[in-house]
Amino acid sequence: MINKQNAQLKNITPIFDRMMRREDKEELLKQRSVMVWFTGLSGSGKSTIAIALEQELHRRGLLCRILDGDNIRTGINNNLGFSPEDRKENIRRIAEVGKLFIDTGIITLAAFISPDNEMREMAAQVIGKEDFLEVYISTPIEECERRDVKGLYAKARRGEIKEFTGVSAPFEIPKDPDLSLDTSALTIEESVNRLLEVILPKVELNE
Ligand code: ADX
Repeated sequence: MINKQNAQLKNITPIFDRMMRREDKEELLKQRSVMVWFTGLSGSGKSTIAIALEQELHRRGLLCRILDGDNIRTGINNNLGFSPEDRKENIRRIAEVGKLFIDTGIITLAAFISPDNEMREMAAQVIGKEDFLEVYISTPIEECERRDVKGLYAKARRGEIKEFTGVSAPFEIPKDPDLSLDTSALTIEESVNRLLEVILPKVELNE
């Protein structure tokens, strides 16, 4: 596979250097782009917080885009499951797509379980560390399971879903996230305010 890929790349001539630059897009949009990468268990509140944050950024005239697990898995990644290899490929593709948004000047909010440090590290590498904010939604599993919004924890406990994160597949706690938010202790508004404190200074364009 790798050899085949390398052979194919020989005949590929990217035009990156002739396209307009990210800085041009950022100037047009009057903002700087950043990747806000939410990680956490299913039901921890990643999507809810991303949606609330999107509204708040939009209200301030900032262009953003949400990439979310369940959405992406019905489209570009509809051929992937939940084995460790598939999850890694899921995150690799999302990081590459995220990079396209970042290079278009768009503030990108990615909400994926992304259950281990290695794959989060890979995403940060693809995006570029200086443009990558890791936000750990640290809601305890007991609370995620109590909410069980999609009924998946119950199914996983009955053995009807295999390799379910937190039940029958691992979740590695992020080592050094830029921000941790426990949605069982904070309101949505409080979480969004903490996020804004970190994000707004990064996306302001210094004229
Ligand atoms: S990731 O582990 O590859 O990052 P991703 O965020 O894309 O996961 O998708 C997680 C969503 O898929 C969950 O919110 C849940 O709705 C659904 N899902 C279905 N099966 C599983 C499973 N075995 N483990 C975790 N989530 C699952």
